[in-house]
Amino acid sequence: MDSVLEKIQNLKQKHKAVILAHNYQPGEIQDMADFTGDSLGLSIKASQTDAEVVVFCGVYFMAETAAILSPGKRVLLPEKLAGCPMADMITAEQLRDLKQKHPGALVVCYVNSPAEVKAESDYCCTSANAVDVVDSLPVEKKIIFVPDQYLGGHVAEKTSRDLVLWPGYCPTHVLISEDDIKNAKAQFPDAVVMTHPECTEPVRNISEQILSTGQMLKFIRHSDAKRFIVATEIGMIHALKRQNPNAEFIAASPKAVCPNMKKITLEKVLWALEDLPNAGSKYHVTVPDDIRKRAKKALDRMVEILPSQ
Ligand code: 13P
Ligand code: SF4
Repeated sequence: MDSVLEKIQNLKQKHKAVILAHNYQPGEIQDMADFTGDSLGLSIKASQTDAEVVVFCGVYFMAETAAILSPGKRVLLPEKLAGCPMADMITAEQLRDLKQKHPGALVVCYVNSPAEVKAESDYCCTSANAVDVVDSLPVEKKIIFVPDQYLGGHVAEKTSRDLVLWPGYCPTHVLISEDDIKNAKAQFPDAVVMTHPECTEPVRNISEQILSTGQMLKFIRHSDAKRFIVATEIGMIHALKRQNPNAEFIAASPKAVCPNMKKITLEKVLWALEDLPNAGSKYHVTVPDDIRKRAKKALDRMVEILPSQ
């Protein structure tokens, strides 16, 4: 009798599928995936792979992004209810209203957003290239940045630009407090604090490095430090340990868990692959063509601008 992992491997080969997993996924999913990474890295992978099927182990907007970038592929999300609450904090109608209030402004939309919002935007960005995307825009242009007020605040500070922000936030990252960082620093004074830009401003202000999840992995490769305090979703600790077994990683807060990221299991990955012959598969993520085409323009600009860091 084959194990779940063996069945996944067999079906993957049979259907020419590739399995992508975000850095916040449960450890066993990260270990089984063909590629792991941050939102930008996985978007690029999804658009460049010649696999016919992409199994996206992450949350809904990530699979939707892959479907927009790769219309010829079947994109599967093993759990359709794995959403991102921040992405759902803005609708296309709300963005249209905001655009009317700021005529002529350019819209930069964080990839953590619904396809309809991307379709209303000029540029998409991830936390890895948000600063570079905004930096690339003409200085005389007003910029609307949605939906994350904290990433937007970080970008405004780094680029010295006055952005129009939307009050969205990540319910997981706001759980990390200034006291969490202070306590961890008091316990491990030699540790470097790496913080995701979705964290609040007081947390960012006392952190040494503000980095996307992919940038954290890159930063450690060139750092002489042996200990790191990690202010992001706790799945990141697994990703960091896998690549750096000799370094020590301390989670800034054990409360920083994204329940949606943890909805993906090995069994659900297997069921999604088993269901592939079913034309109306419930795992299949699709985007209506008119929205897909408009959203793709903003996403194409995102994958073209690589982070300077
Ligand atoms: P990254 O782009 O850094 O992978 O982060 C995605 C995300 O959802 C953060 O909460
Ligand atoms: Fe969304 Fe936050 Fe989860 Fe990232 S960690 S997917 S922003 S809810």
